[in-house]
Amino acid sequence: MSSADRGWVGRAPGRVNLIGEHVDYLGGVVLPAAVDRFTSVSGAPAAEWSVDSDVPGGLAYARAVGEELGAPPQALRVTSTVPPGSGLSSSAALLVAVAAGLAPGLDGAAAALACQRAEQRATGVQVGVMDQFAAALGRRGHALLLDCATLEHRLVPFPDDLVIAVVDSGIHRSLADTPYNQRRREAESGMPRRRRHVESELARVRAFVEALEAGDRPRLGELLKASHRSLRDDFEVSTPVVDALVERAWAVPGCLGARIMGAGFGGSILALLDAGTEAGFGQALEDVAVRFCRTADGAYVR
Ligand code: GLA
Repeated sequence: MSSADRGWVGRAPGRVNLIGEHVDYLGGVVLPAAVDRFTSVSGAPAAEWSVDSDVPGGLAYARAVGEELGAPPQALRVTSTVPPGSGLSSSAALLVAVAAGLAPGLDGAAAALACQRAEQRATGVQVGVMDQFAAALGRRGHALLLDCATLEHRLVPFPDDLVIAVVDSGIHRSLADTPYNQRRREAESGMPRRRRHVESELARVRAFVEALEAGDRPRLGELLKASHRSLRDDFEVSTPVVDALVERAWAVPGCLGARIMGAGFGGSILALLDAGTEAGFGQALEDVAVRFCRTADGAYVR
């Protein structure tokens, strides 16, 4: 009997992306990490699909991932500490939590691909595979270096005394309401400015991994700042509110650098801080929600 035939539970984390933005759907290399905010789902077979959750909108995702996995209809109860619509990929956390509950024995990469297809089907947004991979196969104490063309991946140690801060711009959106698909088409068709972002971002991912491995923190900060400028000017996925937040973060002592994170068009910014400077950072940005995160294990890490 599979999990789909009886009661089950599944849990998956949200994710940050350290660097490598808007390159996954082009087969680029990305560096996300799973973080310690989680979506938990319990489920049992039922006459039809249903979702009981404080956050609306989960039904289409649950049904799509269930169908991808060949599961019969389920009644689900969802609880989550991944804030929706704010750049931590609450959708991937939900999808991967359902997959982990329904198909715990599946290979993590296969589960991530099933969740990516489910998200594309549920939303019509042609997302890449980065978020689902991070939620499935991220690892505590590490970032996940993922080649989205080959799906080869390896863990890169992430130091304990480097703090991940996620700053919520307050602009919450569903990707289906953004020009995400349009940006993807523009990049795929070779539009020069979009390609300039992609090429420069891929070089930054390589440099970022080298800097992480060498412990070169100033370099990490420079690369985050350059990534933001490129996403703002060449890929045009930032907004004035987000740009202002990023610049405020850059100015805080102990902040190595910051950039818009995830799909953009609002959502969250990512900042990296030297440990011990969190209080000052929180004070400097006290008018917005700041979440300090630690790396965590993905749902398919055993
Ligand atoms: C969203 C998508 C990802 C990726 C990012 C941008 O999070 O789900 O696949 O494309 O945007 O890097």
